[in-house]
Amino acid sequence: MRPGLREPIPTVDLQTDRAHSARVYDYMLGGKTNFAADREAGDRIVEEWPGSRASARAARAVMHRLTRRLATVHGVRQFLDIGTGIPTAPNLHEVAQDVEPASRVVYVDNDPIVLAHARALLTSAPEGRTAYIDGDLRHPGKILSDPALRGTLDLTRPVALTLINLVHFLSDDAVHSLVEQLLDALPSGSFLALTAGTGDSAPERAEVASRRYREAGIENHLRTRAQVERFFDGLELDDPGVVLINRWHPELDDDPVLGDHEVMAYAGLARKP
Ligand SMILES: C[S@@+](CC[C@H](N)C(=O)[O-])C[C@H]1O[C@@H](n2cnc3c(N)ncnc32)[C@H](O)[C@@H]1O
Repeated sequence: MRPGLREPIPTVDLQTDRAHSARVYDYMLGGKTNFAADREAGDRIVEEWPGSRASARAARAVMHRLTRRLATVHGVRQFLDIGTGIPTAPNLHEVAQDVEPASRVVYVDNDPIVLAHARALLTSAPEGRTAYIDGDLRHPGKILSDPALRGTLDLTRPVALTLINLVHFLSDDAVHSLVEQLLDALPSGSFLALTAGTGDSAPERAEVASRRYREAGIENHLRTRAQVERFFDGLELDDPGVVLINRWHPELDDDPVLGDHEVMAYAGLARKP
């Protein structure tokens, strides 16, 4: 049995009659782990903006690029990924272990359906290790003290905290201090990789998409560039700073580069001094 996943997987109420962010996103990415309520929420977004699927793929692709740069340029071998989502290959550990098979990754999500599919995240290269924690960003202490995290990551060595396509599901009131609490537990030389939804590039579309999420009962908050930059206060921002996701190292990707008006998120990567 691998750390982080106790046998058997518990029976969970998947609340399939309600749209859920992970499943709507899975639907937008072309995945199969979604239900009628998720598809209805996704279809309403696509009806109003046919380019929203390409935008969702771009939102996923920047996770691959952030991970690749962390592993290749910054030599990071440990990752704490919160808001992991439904497994979609390549997952973060596959990108990191493609660079260094001994990389270790702890995944965290609060969605029972992600938990139900967690096995697909535990396919580590034999040299490395992955673990899954059924946890919530709003409870950083519980994540940090979880035996699966302690058994997988060495917190005396640098860790990349990756929060990809997550913080727009939480309001500003608490999220900054939650991220700070997590970073406080990580040593100097650790990194924060974060993407966050914005209305700066396509205000009307972003507002419609955000409203559709809220109408489906999913909290959603758009942030300006300055608001996203706040997450990196006190950290050393990596090149090219906080930019729209299509502008964050597009050379690391084979996918076509989208225009500014086709994406709705900022990305940034920074080192803890
Ligand atoms: C849009 S998906 C992003 C998935 C993945 N990080 C990616 O970029 O492809 C957002 C994920 O965050 C999870 N999530 C939302 N709120 C959360 C919270 N408070 N704590 C942990 N996970 C959360 C959702 O369940 C969902 O799986």
